Amino acid sequence: MTQKLYIKTHGCQMNEYDSARMADLLADSHGYELVSEPEDADLLLLNTCSIREKAQEKVFHQLGRWRALKERKPELQIGVGGCVASQEGDRIHARAPQVDLVFGPQTLHRLPEMIDAARQGAAPAATPAQRLPVVDITFPEIEKFDRLPTPAADGPSAFVSVMEGCSRYCSFCVVPYTRGEEVSRPVADVMREVIALAGQGVREVNLLGQNVNAYRGAIDDDYADLAELIHYVADVRGIERIRFTTSHPLEFTDSLIEAFANVPQLVDHLHLPVQAGSDRILSLMKRGHTTADYRERIAALRRVRPNLSLSSDFIVGFPGESEADFEATMQLIDDVGFDTSFSFIYSARPGTPAAALDDGVTEAEKKARLQRLQARLRAQADAIAAGMVGTTVRLLVTGASRKDPSQLQGRTENNRVCNFAPPADGAPVPDFVDVEVTQALPNSLRGRFLARA
Ligand code: SAH
Ligand code: F3S
Repeated sequence: MTQKLYIKTHGCQMNEYDSARMADLLADSHGYELVSEPEDADLLLLNTCSIREKAQEKVFHQLGRWRALKERKPELQIGVGGCVASQEGDRIHARAPQVDLVFGPQTLHRLPEMIDAARQGAAPAATPAQRLPVVDITFPEIEKFDRLPTPAADGPSAFVSVMEGCSRYCSFCVVPYTRGEEVSRPVADVMREVIALAGQGVREVNLLGQNVNAYRGAIDDDYADLAELIHYVADVRGIERIRFTTSHPLEFTDSLIEAFANVPQLVDHLHLPVQAGSDRILSLMKRGHTTADYRERIAALRRVRPNLSLSSDFIVGFPGESEADFEATMQLIDDVGFDTSFSFIYSARPGTPAAALDDGVTEAEKKARLQRLQARLRAQADAIAAGMVGTTVRLLVTGASRKDPSQLQGRTENNRVCNFAPPADGAPVPDFVDVEVTQALPNSLRGRFLARA
């Protein structure tokens, strides 16, 4: 009987990508079939996130719910991966003895062996050493990608991880500690994956990395930067849209701006986290750039891409953030104009330099600031959506609308969901269509089908 696998993913797009690779890998190695209900599974995997305290808290709640399943079905295996696993290692098992294996973001390719070892440990004849939980949270460089099977496409849009880890060490961030230092995949590897995906009908690739614009992938005896990689990806037949996330302003080089000028497949959208609009806070965050640098990069980008939609990440209530610092962030938002963005209250992360800083901002103040900031961001994003009404936009059709299956759904270049009624002729709809935007709703757009693109 085929074994069933259930994966729960917390956190970022890298985790989504990693979870999809785990499913591919375990289908290959053990014939595991992915199921949508944990009750149906023989193996439960939790891919965790530790970027903020709240994300981390969710892990033990989830493991508590899964313990009940294991009590009913003792042969059920439970594995914990991702950044909490990386940070906590053996301590996971101390708090949640129902866990059979713990793996880090860089060791997920070793899952097949770990699952076998955990099974041996659960057998009646197991030695005491074999009974120990299986833990591997090392950072074995790029071996991970060499051991993963070619990904299976899931629709017309796909993620491709091009680099792992981050070496920027922003003072608030756990990523360099949980995912390790930056390691880039060689160009040929990335291209093999992109070409395989294009062969399966993928039309949009999103190049992923925690600090993706620091990409430096080996090619022959040299290295290619992200801009060069984007040029290669753009040459792959079938790939019509290219995105990349997440970038850091400091490494947003002229070569990337040139890519926006010269590569039409690069979408009119960029996610470029700024975190704060006060130079004092940026410096305490060790971001390595000023607000003027950020504004200059955006201005240079908008010279080559006047319609570029820009989104960002913001942290509110970083230790010592004064009202004036916060106002500087609000000013930056007003001046730059952002599309749908992310914002968070600062969360002290153990082991990061900022955790030692004196906070001094009350929780109530942080919440009030976050609300003001989110209201401002929301107003800007709503205005952008309202401005799209009446215009013609090209959608990458992703399938049926979730709420109303008689409607189709697609994504605009600025990553908005747009629902539309299929054309009256009933003939098949290709991957790209043009629609006229007829209505802007709070979280999506409505469109009227115009033409097959
Ligand atoms: N590499 C990206 C960020 C990855 S983490 C960059 O260049 O910024 C995603 C977002 O989580 C960050 O942009 C930041 O806004 C937020 N974040 C990270 N650590 C945080 C913390 N300790 N508290 C609150 N938000 C945090
Ligand atoms: Fe984190 Fe800064 Fe890297 S936010 S992921 S350390 S760029």
